Amino acid sequence: MSSKRVFLSESDQPTAWYNLQADLPKPVPPPLHPATNQPLGPEDLAPIFAMELIKQEVSQERWIGIPDEVRRVLSIWRPSPLTRAENLEKALKTPARIYFKDESHSPPGSHKPNTAVAQAYYNKQQGINRLTTETGAGQWGSALCFACKMFEMECKVYMVKCSYEQKPYRRSMMQIWGGSVTPSPSDETEAGRKMLAADPDTPGSLGMAISEAVEAAVSRDDTKYTLGSVLNHVLLHQSIIGLEAEKQFELAEDFPDVVIGCCGGGSNFAGLAFPFIRHRLAGKEIRFVATEPCSCPTMSRGQYRYDFGDTTMLTPLIKMFTLGHSFVPPGIHAGGLRYHGMAPMISLGAELGIIEAAAYHQLECFDAARLFASTEGIIPAPETAHAIRAVVNEAERCRQQGKEECIVFNFSGHGLCDLGAYDRYLAGELEDYAYPQEKIEAAIAELPQVE
Ligand SMILES: Cc1ncc(COP(=O)(O)O)c(C=O)c1O
Repeated sequence: MSSKRVFLSESDQPTAWYNLQADLPKPVPPPLHPATNQPLGPEDLAPIFAMELIKQEVSQERWIGIPDEVRRVLSIWRPSPLTRAENLEKALKTPARIYFKDESHSPPGSHKPNTAVAQAYYNKQQGINRLTTETGAGQWGSALCFACKMFEMECKVYMVKCSYEQKPYRRSMMQIWGGSVTPSPSDETEAGRKMLAADPDTPGSLGMAISEAVEAAVSRDDTKYTLGSVLNHVLLHQSIIGLEAEKQFELAEDFPDVVIGCCGGGSNFAGLAFPFIRHRLAGKEIRFVATEPCSCPTMSRGQYRYDFGDTTMLTPLIKMFTLGHSFVPPGIHAGGLRYHGMAPMISLGAELGIIEAAAYHQLECFDAARLFASTEGIIPAPETAHAIRAVVNEAERCRQQGKEECIVFNFSGHGLCDLGAYDRYLAGELEDYAYPQEKIEAAIAELPQVE
């Protein structure tokens, strides 16, 4: 019997992260100061982020060492298994070989702590004892609360209001790990009060919660802000996923033809894909498919422009695919995919034609998730379901074309705190929603005029 899961031992955990910036054919455009439109220097970011993270953000080094203290915490669940989805292959009658890198084994249940642990560590090293952040579905917030607990730090989380109501158990996780959680927009910050005055019934959005978390960080000396996706240093920390997968494919004597991940801000997709993109840049034929919801189609229907990362235009301007910072996506259940922008490195990869985007409706994603749970047993997070939809479509293409391709996807998280969404799906209450073109155009019309 060939093995279904490929394991690495703890000592095989990578000792350095991979930085795709060193190999991209074009440099990533720099972030710009929101007032002057000039490239930012480290001193502009220092009130918000720890200095070591700012250095990583702009580093052109190919390999950046992972501190032992970080590897020690990661070893609670890393290396994560690479699993062959044989039952899914059989159900789909596909000649394709399907693998998934299973990031659902971490204590919070997703890939997010890979960077949360690193960010908490570098802040603690700098003498910072309190972190703020925003969270959508609660995956990032719970990961940061877990990481802060590991380094005995305080954590303050602004959770998008509709997710706060839909996902009570992630809030419980954050509180068990000692975090403090506030539904956003809130009346605790100037930004939140403005947003509530404009629309007291708003479901909230990641862009709004970022505004609150940044304001809460810059207003106190003992506090810094952390982001769970989008930025270069976050994608760097996630590269541990793809680096482990590379070793596991060697052991399995296989190699991917197609790499798939769902994209909110892009960190789990990048984590798996970037180490393989370096093989593509060296001449190997590999496709990279980044998936997103039709209700928040950042790469499929957005534009590659400079835009703000948040709603109230506090953050630096970032060159990225964006639907416009004023875009408020509907309250779909894949809360982690409701972000108006996309990581600059992924955006550049898409612009250069290295990365393909695919958008799916939530019902077809839940169908694919149910098929996965029925065959492989594990219940995926609604975000992960967007990757599985693409996997099923690719496997069906392989069946139609008689191709024995190797498909790998990032199983970014389990859905055990998302059962309310599954209940609604099973009761036939979930609806598809494609964002109207006029609303996208209206939000894009508000983009700053910067080239
Ligand atoms: C399980 C899961 N997958 C994917 C995402 C999307 O984020 P990213 O694109 O940064 O991986 C999230 C975000 O919360 C998530 O919780």
